[in-house]
Amino acid sequence: MNITIIGTGYVGLTSGTCFAEVGHHVTCVDNNQEKIETLLRGEIPIYEPGLADLVKANVDSGRLKFTTSTEDGVKSGDIIFIAVPTPPQPDGSVDLSFIEKVAREIAECLTPELGYRVIVDKSTVPVKTGDKVKQTVRRYAPDGVEFGVVSNPEFLREGCAVEDLLHPDRIVIGSNDEKALALMQKLYEPFVAPVLVTDINSAELIKHAANSFLALKISYINAVANICEASHADVEKVAEGIGMDKRIGRAFLNAGLGYGGSCFPKDIKAFIAISESLGQPFDLLKEVERINADQMNRFLDKIREKLWVFRDKKIALWGLAFKQNTDDVRESVAIRMAKVMLKEGARVIANDPQAIATAKKFGEFEGEIDYTPDMYAALDDADALVIATEWPQYANADLTEIARRLRTPLVFDGRNLLDPADTKAAGLEYECIGRAAVDAS
Ligand code: UDX
Repeated sequence: MNITIIGTGYVGLTSGTCFAEVGHHVTCVDNNQEKIETLLRGEIPIYEPGLADLVKANVDSGRLKFTTSTEDGVKSGDIIFIAVPTPPQPDGSVDLSFIEKVAREIAECLTPELGYRVIVDKSTVPVKTGDKVKQTVRRYAPDGVEFGVVSNPEFLREGCAVEDLLHPDRIVIGSNDEKALALMQKLYEPFVAPVLVTDINSAELIKHAANSFLALKISYINAVANICEASHADVEKVAEGIGMDKRIGRAFLNAGLGYGGSCFPKDIKAFIAISESLGQPFDLLKEVERINADQMNRFLDKIREKLWVFRDKKIALWGLAFKQNTDDVRESVAIRMAKVMLKEGARVIANDPQAIATAKKFGEFEGEIDYTPDMYAALDDADALVIATEWPQYANADLTEIARRLRTPLVFDGRNLLDPADTKAAGLEYECIGRAAVDAS
């Protein structure tokens, strides 16, 4: 099928590429000329495992094209995806101005001669946005234009976006238009995944409700971790024990510094705002946010407890990205922690396998922060090691080398990556989250 994706951000670029990979002809549109030129040169503006090779292969095969012209995209695509940013506003509600603008632009390019078009919202949007898109297109399109509007939320995770797109747990297609639903089902035929067809409002709600539930799982286990600490229990065992219940599951029960990234913090805030605007306040989610924010502060207190003061201390920081396998530092707890430590007078020397460049560009550090691409070099003469991101290379670190290089053998593991008994054997003083039972043994 011929499809168009408007917006070549994370979701637009990766989903467009994967649609091309399964055999569709895809035109990706972006109004950022520089970005399109970069993509036309075969360069990818983000770090996402496997994506660069896939873009190249599909551009070479002629199934994936890039352009700045919305008109070309609307002409060539029977199905037109909107995948533009939906940033938060200061009150937590979603800024839908990019969606509105693209809906208008699409409308202005539509003509009755083009025939029926499906307009799909892939960006994460509040419930009832589809209705607004429909109204807007109807208002700005010439008379006689035929179209249907669909919500098709995207559930990809950064760091494994290609895998998530090619092999999703489920595909959600929401529309009140039968013709649009039939075309969408045809589009997804090459994918081996269950398809859930719903009305448009339910599809929009599924995305916010799913992300909020995952964030709730994380805050839940973090609250349990704090109880474990106070009662000398081990949160890893507790998570294993509750996760063995098939109704609960072990995934997203990793206690640590809490969630960050471009989705969870924004989506939880948006869902709170949406529920309030509908007169159904969802206060449980406020508690999820509160626990998440406290997690970093509690951890910093733990470090202060041992170091006494940050001033003039050299801190080796392992991790800048908001999670492993990405260079994304948006809403990264690692970055937020580094800022507090700097503010309190510490010298921070940071390592990250992918996110040093993005941290330099977007970290907005007021003080000086040093970076090293060598995780062990960060430790030389440092007063403590702080682990903030769950990269596998940190989990597999050489503990003897850590002990040898640190000035004082203090390790604060904000992601529970290391084994407490092993750290003890290596002569390290080790602090983690919710594993008091193991620390005490
Ligand atoms: C998330 C959703 O998983 C995805 O479905 C949606 O489309 C976008 O938002 P993403 O933000 O890429 O994806 O990352 P995810 O793997 O969900 O992790 C989010 C945050 O939660 C990270 O900061 C991670 O460190 C943290 N996390 C995750 C935990 O603290 N504990 C866990 O058990 C899992």
